[in-house]
Amino acid sequence: MSAFGGATVREALDSAVIAIAAAGSDTPRLDAELLLAAALGIDRTALFLAPGREVAGPAVRAFQDAVRRRSAGREPVAYITGTRRFRYIELAVDPRVLVPRPETELLVEVGLELLADGERVVDVGTGSGAVALALASERPDLAVAATDVSADALAVARANAARLGRDDVVFVEGDLLAGVAQVEAVLCNPPYVAAGERASLSPEITRHEPPAALFGGDDGLDVIRRLVPAAAAAGARLLAIEVGGGQARAVEELMGEAGFSHVDARRDLAGIERVVIGVR
Ligand SMILES: C[S@@+](CC[C@H](N)C(=O)[O-])C[C@H]1O[C@@H](n2cnc3c(N)ncnc32)[C@H](O)[C@@H]1O
Repeated sequence: MSAFGGATVREALDSAVIAIAAAGSDTPRLDAELLLAAALGIDRTALFLAPGREVAGPAVRAFQDAVRRRSAGREPVAYITGTRRFRYIELAVDPRVLVPRPETELLVEVGLELLADGERVVDVGTGSGAVALALASERPDLAVAATDVSADALAVARANAARLGRDDVVFVEGDLLAGVAQVEAVLCNPPYVAAGERASLSPEITRHEPPAALFGGDDGLDVIRRLVPAAAAAGARLLAIEVGGGQARAVEELMGEAGFSHVDARRDLAGIERVVIGVR
């Protein structure tokens, strides 16, 4: 009999939490709950309503495999379940794209606050489509385009757009803003991890997420250094870029040099200056 065969939801969760915690996850109970809900094909909240329900049938093997992938393989939960919530939408994700992070919701909030009615906004480096699709679903007035250099990532983004019924979002394969006709505003969560920080990242990131979505050269600013003047040259009046801890000053300077007169940084919930905003 397998580890979870005949176990109740509560028992299966308790043993999975032990395995996942031992492997080094910071969020073992949340991970176990998300994995068991996915194996059972139910919502996570439904687990709490039926702690005595037996885990039976194909769900036993599915949950066992999922817990093994999470603990032995250190795979991100989102790649195992194949989905990730981002603001009000659910995105399909796999190792072709970065798992959208909670702090990136701040970038969307900045867009929702500062984008004018009907403005043409470009999400540069769209990955799963998270920023573009969240904006489009919360602000149908906007004309949203999204770019990525990765054809693989764009395939994921386009599939997410189709699933969410957002055929109004235009996807363009290319470098930064190449191939986008009219640009009034640019939002971007670029690869901004400095090459030397690789060793400090968790195995979930280094073993599974696409390196091109993570690393931005020696100081992490390679993509940003090219994007800021490109956005100015394209005529953007608003530029908002997600940055890593300690990068905000340098990015503010880049924006000032490129002619963005009002430059500001917004802090995330951890108090880190996370989104640098330039307006002109
Ligand atoms: C940090 S990920 C962000 C993905 C998504 N926007 C999110 O927030 O979840 C960066 C993305 O930028 C893309 N990228 C890297 N360099 C780029 C470039 N020069 N032009 C366009 N996209 C680029 C990567 O392929 C990756 O999908």
